Amino acid sequence: MLPPVLTIDGPSGSGKGTIVQHVAQKLGWHVLDSGALYRLVGFGSQNNQLSFENEDEIANFGAHLDVEFKLVAADSSQSDGGVTQELQIILEGKQVGAELRTEETGKLASIVAAMPKVREALFQRQRDFRQNPGLVADGRDMGTAIFPDAKAKIFLTASAEERAQRRYKQLKSKGIDGNLAALLRDINERDERDSSRSASPLKPADDAIQIDTSDLSIEQVVEKVLAICEKQF
Ligand code: DC
Repeated sequence: MLPPVLTIDGPSGSGKGTIVQHVAQKLGWHVLDSGALYRLVGFGSQNNQLSFENEDEIANFGAHLDVEFKLVAADSSQSDGGVTQELQIILEGKQVGAELRTEETGKLASIVAAMPKVREALFQRQRDFRQNPGLVADGRDMGTAIFPDAKAKIFLTASAEERAQRRYKQLKSKGIDGNLAALLRDINERDERDSSRSASPLKPADDAIQIDTSDLSIEQVVEKVLAICEKQF
């Protein structure tokens, strides 16, 4: 029997990353951060001066992506409310960190993610994360395209304004002064591109349970997700 999978999909800033880390730690399961794969393809393509007009070239880069994911003990001074492990990402032999999470890289990720050949190139790599004792998969199409047979599927939402606010606070906590109006515009633009593309657009699976996180704390969302897991697995 295939290892169990919990899929957590939703738009940028819906809180997926944080919720996935907490839930995976509670369950003792592996994590697939599929957004990081698209970010790596966008970021790596730019570093290697590939043409974003050339889908074949970018897809070929994605198919041979030289990346290693390592789970290491979190720096306790930076750790986020009880998460004790963090993911280290090594691209072409060099560790990548903050540069992968910038708005600029998010935009590149969203552009390459709209290319069907890039999605195809990353398909099996994502499925290979399905290992015992289980997987929590974070993305846009985890429940629809990558793991349609997952026993539990969650779709997290939050208003665009709330998501821009969260991003603003996150930047501020890192000493970066964001511009709220520009963040909201970027979020709306990215939502539009991610939802309107023809290849695996951002949309809830028919059998996904939707949770609006706008007025919920991290703990409340984690509790809801764990209650769903208890029922389904
Ligand atoms: O979750 P994130 O912000 O790291 O994702 C970056 C971009 O990658 C996002 O704008 C859309 C794309 N993406 C996708 O198309 N499919 C996924 N499964 C994950 C991310």
